[in-house]
Amino acid sequence: MKPETWNLKKAAAEKSLECIHDGNTVGLGTGSTVRYLLEALAPRVQEGLRIQGVPTSQETALMASQLHIPILQDEDYWSVDVAIDGADEVDPQLNLIKGGGGALLREKIIAANAKQFVVIVDDGKLVSSLGVAFPLPVEVTPFGWPSTVRAIEQLGYRATRRERNGQAFVTDNQHYILDLHGPAIANPSRLAQQLHDIPGVVESGLFVGMTSTLIVGTPQGVVVHRPPSRV
Ligand code: 5RP
Repeated sequence: MKPETWNLKKAAAEKSLECIHDGNTVGLGTGSTVRYLLEALAPRVQEGLRIQGVPTSQETALMASQLHIPILQDEDYWSVDVAIDGADEVDPQLNLIKGGGGALLREKIIAANAKQFVVIVDDGKLVSSLGVAFPLPVEVTPFGWPSTVRAIEQLGYRATRRERNGQAFVTDNQHYILDLHGPAIANPSRLAQQLHDIPGVVESGLFVGMTSTLIVGTPQGVVVHRPPSRV
């Protein structure tokens, strides 16, 4: 990744601090852009900002703890004021592909729980159609996963099980990730429903109609977008 890209991620992450207010419960996403958010948030917390974080992954929980950002536990009842997370692709309607880091299930549960869902990206994540450049991650049960692959492939996508160091990648929820390769996703909402309808699919990385605010780091500066229906 180009060094400029890291600066764009950092700029978007730092801008998103404006969405966090004293007393908030804050969904903390996963990934390199969110790491910049945690690094920027930690000094504010040390200065007295009172927040409680809800981490979307064990990785984020660990980093938040190391930075002394208070976090709620997985089994607490949360009422999230704002969730802030990265994305792998963003289309013009602000629909997303997420799950590059394998945390899509917890990310979606927390985004759906949040009053505001703020997405922070560099401008390289903006696409005209989802699924062209980045394969769509889908979280599935290990039980019967080859049958789940077959059912998914009937939708016209090639599904490969994600691996790490030659072994199956296992999510924080003890599931597998399938990465779907295929045509551009013409109708994200329909595909999300078709995937949900397959037994064995736990959740897809399609986040349709969930984004409240998109913050994009660009070489010209940070740009804030809201979906047309919410302007
Ligand atoms: C993790 C995600 C991340 O938000 C997504 O992969 C973007 O990551 P990064 O900020 O490192 O580009 O969905 O499951």
